Amino acid sequence: MSEEVIGLLRTAYSDEIETVMNYQTNAIVLDGVRAEEIKESLQTDIQEELTHAEQLGNRLKQLDARPPGSAEFTANQDSLQPPEDSTDVLSVIDGVIDAEEDAIATYRDLIDAAEEANDPVTEDLAVTILSDEEAHRTEFKGYRKEYKRE
Ligand SMILES: [Fe+2]
Ligand SMILES: [Fe+2]
Repeated sequence: MSEEVIGLLRTAYSDEIETVMNYQTNAIVLDGVRAEEIKESLQTDIQEELTHAEQLGNRLKQLDARPPGSAEFTANQDSLQPPEDSTDVLSVIDGVIDAEEDAIATYRDLIDAAEEANDPVTEDLAVTILSDEEAHRTEFKGYRKEYKRE
């Protein structure tokens, strides 16, 4: 069993939980006609991120480890905090792209570490989740293009 794999699985789990919290908060806080599509999109992604956390937690258990509780939690997503101006949708879009890029980097590290540790099951899980995160990033990059144009 690789300590690096366990550490990355735990980090990824915490990041997914933080993402759920910030997507949920922003989906509630944003105001305005232009925000509606973003809010809906965030709501859909929340369910996917929660599923990721569950999958990572179950994998940790299979490796005789466990996901962290809140006492071990450290917040990282500065750019995804709810904006002062509740109509500032672009700030949330940029924050989402940062969070997805961070997740993509973590899953790439996890793929490398799992391969190194000869752990194809964790590697396969990381590849599957990575593809979801890349799809999320593409979706929000599309929103950013639209918002920058207006
Ligand atoms: Fe995720
Ligand atoms: Fe995501």
